[in-house]
Amino acid sequence: MNKISTKSIQSQLILYFTIAILVPTIITSTVGVKLIKDQIITHAESKTISDLNSAREIYRNKISHIESITRLTAARSLVIHALKESNSSFLQKDLQRTLQRENLDVLTIVDKNGKVLARGRNAKLFGDVLKEDKLVKRAISTNRIVSGADIVSREYLMKESPALAGQVFMDVTRTQKAKPRKSLKETSGLMLKAAVPVFDDNGSFIGVLLGGTLLNRNFEIVDKIKETVHEKGIYKGREIGTATIFQNDLRISTNVKNADGTRAISTLVSEEVYDAVLIRGERFVGDAFVVNAWYISAYEPIRDIENNIIGILYVGVLKQPFDDTLSKAILTFLGIAMGGIILIIFIAVHQAKKISTPLRKLEEVAKKIEDGDYKQQFIVKAPREIERLSASLNQMAKQLDQEKMELEAWGEKLEKKVEARTDEIKKIHAQLFRSEKLASLGKLAAGVAHEINNPLTGILTNASLLLDDLPKEDPRHEDVDVIVKETIRCREIVKRLLDFARQTKPQKQLVDVNSIIESIILLVRNQTSFRNIAIQKNLSGNMPEIMADKDQIQQVFINIIINAAEAMSKSGTLTIDTLLSSTKDFIMIKISDTGHGIPEHLREKIFDPFYTTKENGTGLGLSISYGIIEQHGGEINVDSTIGEGTTFTIKLPIYSQESD
Ligand SMILES: Nc1ncnc2c1ncn2[C@@H]1O[C@H](COP(=O)(O)OP(=O)(O)OP(=O)(O)O)[C@@H](O)[C@H]1O
Ligand SMILES: [Mg+2]
Repeated sequence: MNKISTKSIQSQLILYFTIAILVPTIITSTVGVKLIKDQIITHAESKTISDLNSAREIYRNKISHIESITRLTAARSLVIHALKESNSSFLQKDLQRTLQRENLDVLTIVDKNGKVLARGRNAKLFGDVLKEDKLVKRAISTNRIVSGADIVSREYLMKESPALAGQVFMDVTRTQKAKPRKSLKETSGLMLKAAVPVFDDNGSFIGVLLGGTLLNRNFEIVDKIKETVHEKGIYKGREIGTATIFQNDLRISTNVKNADGTRAISTLVSEEVYDAVLIRGERFVGDAFVVNAWYISAYEPIRDIENNIIGILYVGVLKQPFDDTLSKAILTFLGIAMGGIILIIFIAVHQAKKISTPLRKLEEVAKKIEDGDYKQQFIVKAPREIERLSASLNQMAKQLDQEKMELEAWGEKLEKKVEARTDEIKKIHAQLFRSEKLASLGKLAAGVAHEINNPLTGILTNASLLLDDLPKEDPRHEDVDVIVKETIRCREIVKRLLDFARQTKPQKQLVDVNSIIESIILLVRNQTSFRNIAIQKNLSGNMPEIMADKDQIQQVFINIIINAAEAMSKSGTLTIDTLLSSTKDFIMIKISDTGHGIPEHLREKIFDPFYTTKENGTGLGLSISYGIIEQHGGEINVDSTIGEGTTFTIKLPIYSQESD
């Protein structure tokens, strides 16, 4: 037997639909999410780089600003004049005013040999040589303006002001991932400087004016960067943009805030950035965890005028907004994908149902057909192929029903035929049995009759003679008369017995059955036993003559007609019908009476020899008749209703076999 699949068509359809949807969706989602991510990260990084460019501009502007102030001051004739005259006291006052007005940290003037004439910040100290200042040195040697960043030592600052030395001093905060540092105290500072040569009216170089601003704990630049680039943006309580200036690896100016809201200075840059920017001099862009949040960061080196790397300029953009945008985009994307999947699954389920529901209905119907119920006709609303299948199933059921009915009818017919055949066989059997019985009885009867006949003839002859001799008055006359009568009766019986037993071959000739019947009616009509009996005859007009023994046939009719009369002792009607069969191969003679009828259980017996219900009957009439009709190849049948009457039907072939 074939194994029946346990999976339903619906679940299989849904499964394959789902796989067909899920696989491309997952691929699209993965690729889509990656593209979105790359796009957003690229965007974030390029934004950071452009922020870094802006920061550099602001940083350079600051240097330019210092340079401008210094240049303008150096060009003033009063200053030139005082320098020429070495009027330190004038210069000091003048420079102090400018320093305060322009918010510079340092404004110092030296002569062409580098000797300090006046310090705007420190009135007391002058006359020392400022040759170690790289910018002043270069300005003296080149007579050109020199500006840029420079590392300034504690001694250098102390000369200007202890406050400046205090401003740059930092206890370095230990920082994770930072490169180990030799000194955990920072005493030097990072200063933006401009050294402007001063010329007299003749154009001769007479000295250098140096202006400078310390970047340590000076938040002007970083705040300006933030303002310019991010407009003080805050995202979920955090600064969107941050900027930092490192002196070497140390954070000296920043707007990144600590948890307590203070600026997160004095921490160190990570080793990774240290190696990339401070050692290799590269720009570094990447994610960095700064103080308490992730930033997309960009770092680039700050160089002094000799191109040595002395610090780092940093800008960072809070990563959270990009991450949020990314998750929003991914969620939207996945939401659409999920929506699509749900929609398609919904459609798949719907479609699968459209196929599986009619199939299930078909299955039910097929099951019923299997159980033998062909009557149902059904309509299935389904796709074309299934509708066709259901139509075929309908047709098949119809055909099966018809065939079943035909088979049943045929069965019934067969049964009837078998019954009829069985009846026929029974009949033949009975006939055969009777014939055999008749034959053996006939032989016996013939023997007995033959033996009795001679003595009987002797008795009758002698008794008749004796009767003739005796006068009527003689009292023995009556007794002898009885002997004669009873002997005649015996002889009659013996004659009938011999008739019965004779089994003589019929002497066939063409006879007209109708005329035989007519002559019999003429014969019996006047008999006493027929006095109260009406005789009705319906003789067919187109009766052919048949080949038969006229005497024998006549005897049969007489036997039956006499029986009929005897059955209607008081009165009644005797009806005789003759007719030709529709097949025109035999004739039928029906002899009916309105007598007492024959009980059913006796109907077979009446043809037995010696069966009689009559006091003086021999019981041989019907058995002799039976034998004669049989000899003629015919049939004799009885039909009777108790109290209504009896009909004997005799069938005789028109051409008997012998005559053929
Ligand atoms: N038409 C009939 N109506 C009723 N019973 C009949 C009829 N014909 C025959 N029988 C019954 O069949 C029996 C046998 O008939 P059958 O002619 O062989 O003998 P019988 O008439 O009795 O004697 P026999 O013919 O020698 O005078 C009868 O005794 C009778 O009971
Ligand atoms: Mg009789």
